[in-house]
Amino acid sequence: MYSVQKQKIAIIGPGNMGKAIRDGLLISKKFNKENILFGEDKLKNNEIAKSADLIILAVEPSIIPVVLHEIGSALDKNKIIISLAARVDLNILAKYSNPNQPIVRVMPNICAKVGESMSCWTSRNLTVEKERTVKTLLRAIGKEILLEDESMFDAITSISGSGPAYVFLLAKMIEDFADSIQLDKKISQEIITQTFFGSAKMLKLSGLDADKLRKMVVSKGGTTEAALNEMQVNGWRDIFMNALNKARKRSSDNVT
Ligand SMILES: NC(=O)c1ccc[n+]([C@@H]2O[C@H](COP(=O)([O-])OP(=O)(O)OC[C@H]3O[C@@H](n4cnc5c(N)ncnc54)[C@H](OP(=O)(O)O)[C@@H]3O)[C@@H](O)[C@H]2O)c1
Repeated sequence: MYSVQKQKIAIIGPGNMGKAIRDGLLISKKFNKENILFGEDKLKNNEIAKSADLIILAVEPSIIPVVLHEIGSALDKNKIIISLAARVDLNILAKYSNPNQPIVRVMPNICAKVGESMSCWTSRNLTVEKERTVKTLLRAIGKEILLEDESMFDAITSISGSGPAYVFLLAKMIEDFADSIQLDKKISQEIITQTFFGSAKMLKLSGLDADKLRKMVVSKGGTTEAALNEMQVNGWRDIFMNALNKARKRSSDNVT
């Protein structure tokens, strides 16, 4: 009988994202180690693709056409190609694979490593069963949203694909501040981590939006207000808006 858990999953591209997906799938306990073919050897791309039902492409965007060419002879209409690459749209995946090939474009994020990815995806040529398979896979590594409109991917890439890096940068800047005032590193890291974790939990569970939550922390004439005023005076908001726009524009610079 068909079972998603029995599907063989090849991961081509053993870098940060490939490892994060592998680790997320394993900690979910929904997929067995024996069913994950982790492509550590570039020369074996075709071999692992041949044995797999789902082929996850976790290589750099410019390498996607190269890898699709390499695994071309392993493809058939039953295999699902799942690309994680930014700047590679469905047309490109279709162009370098077979007509009617089941293809999926996903924008996950690095939090897949702990089973907390935000993965937005869109597809072509999936049967209902294959759609269920992809959902199960993506739910094993976090949350998933199926998007009908592929043009949203550029914005999504700049928000959720790159998003963890903005958060980690902010955490690092606060760590640097803590260092500068000689706070014990172990203590400061615990404080910062719990502050980010608690804030994320408030965003998720309080039912209040980010603006309302921020206002709950800012007392008139207090310490938080002093900090936020300084950020505003120095154009923090504009810097951030411009930065996200740069990411969005880079994302629209499609591989051809
Ligand atoms: N990192 C993220 O947070 C993130 C989030 C969302 C989407 N993505 C997407 O995920 C993809 C991978 O990103 P990444 O950050 O994981 O990059 P990465 O750490 O540089 O990993 C890419 C891996 O692919 C390998 N590779 C290159 N050519 C190959 C080939 N022909 N066959 C097999 N493997 C090959 C590289 O090996 P060598 O280094 O030995 O060349 C490297 O191990 C990108 O397309 C990116 O847009 C990444």
